[in-house]
Amino acid sequence: MFYKLSTRGIATRVGNLAQKTQAKHSAAVSTENARSEAVFAREQKYGAHNYHPLPVALSRGEGVHVWDVEGKRYFDYLSAYSAVNQGHCHPKIIKALTEQSQKLALTSRAFYSDVLGEYEEFVTKFFGYDKVLPMNTGVEGCETACKLARKWGYVKKQIPKNKAKIIFARNNFWGRTLAAVSASNDPSSFEGFGPFMPGFELIDYNNTAALEQALQDPNVCAFMVEPIQGEAGVVVPDDGYLRQVRDLCTKHNVLWIADEVQTGLARTGRMLAIDYEQVKPDILILGKALSGGIYPVSAALCNDEIMLCIKPGEHGSTYGGNPLGCRVAIAALTVLQEENLAENAFKMGQLLRSELSKLPKDVVSVVRGKGLLNAIVINSKFDAWDVCMKLRDNGLLAKPTHGDIIRFAPPLVITETQMLESIDIIKKTILSM
Ligand SMILES: Cc1ncc(COP(=O)(O)O)c(C=O)c1O
Repeated sequence: MFYKLSTRGIATRVGNLAQKTQAKHSAAVSTENARSEAVFAREQKYGAHNYHPLPVALSRGEGVHVWDVEGKRYFDYLSAYSAVNQGHCHPKIIKALTEQSQKLALTSRAFYSDVLGEYEEFVTKFFGYDKVLPMNTGVEGCETACKLARKWGYVKKQIPKNKAKIIFARNNFWGRTLAAVSASNDPSSFEGFGPFMPGFELIDYNNTAALEQALQDPNVCAFMVEPIQGEAGVVVPDDGYLRQVRDLCTKHNVLWIADEVQTGLARTGRMLAIDYEQVKPDILILGKALSGGIYPVSAALCNDEIMLCIKPGEHGSTYGGNPLGCRVAIAALTVLQEENLAENAFKMGQLLRSELSKLPKDVVSVVRGKGLLNAIVINSKFDAWDVCMKLRDNGLLAKPTHGDIIRFAPPLVITETQMLESIDIIKKTILSM
């Protein structure tokens, strides 16, 4: 995400680019990119400047492809940060959305609907938990998990009032609310937004000794962690880390919260990234691809002993669990299963990494990832933003993170032919650097 590119060099370059884009726009409306330029200029003028998109103006998406307003086709190698796992505008999900939107879209939770219970039964059986608490965005799912953990800490673990602590891993990312940025150690996330949420502590990721140390504190109610740190640059922990996290949390009577908002739902080559170690967190958070990128749907799943600590009136959302979102989520999960997207992600990911590993090491120094959640690290003499601009020119969209890392995460419906075609674009681009 642009706003995590905190190095001065990148910020300056991005600024220049925006100016160039603006200047070009006013100079020549008749250029071949006139429609794109108009899109950039309008957003720049009327929208908050809290993002800095790659300059490409999209108007259509289907499967692994998106098209810009001039009609140029691209491979989408970001998939809306892994929300579009099922591919753009998947017909089965669109059908569910269309049919439900013509019947009943929103009731609020003041009343029952004939869809919510069906979805709740479906999603809890799908992931093997007693109950689900439906929300909308990923950050709300994470915040819900924190509230559940604190409540459980007071009700079940007898932590003294207002003393509950939650441990997070350094370089975590779970969104932009005040609670989420309170858990962040990235200045571009938290600087200027204090004061922060008390009772949040950080330890190093992939460090079980640090976790064991932190869990000595009897006021700790939970440890929240991503099975692979996505926004940090696709950081994959050691094999066995998640199993040790499970064992340590059990040993110290602390809840383990797995944030699978980005890693979940077939992205890493398994339905959940935790499935690689066959472990089960106490609270599972899902979002993004839970709707296939069609509509914001998120969820916190856990068993009764935790979920029933929250009573009526203590948590909720007007849109959470609405009929439209529920129908869309059932369809989105069904598509993942019916089309074996976890298996495809696993296979295509192997192919992608094995081909990327052949690229010259003086340009691409590291290739890492699991399934179709991958990243390359660009050698410091090159610039990841420039690489992404060249990829765009050659018909593939990806976004840098942290200045020198590029995430490669296409929709999981990608075929082998499409994978080979997109790998050719990446090779051609890198070799031209
Ligand atoms: C691991 C993780 N958790 C939570 C979130 C927040 O999701 P949202 O942007 O839908 O609020 C993100 C977003 O990138 C994420 O990667």
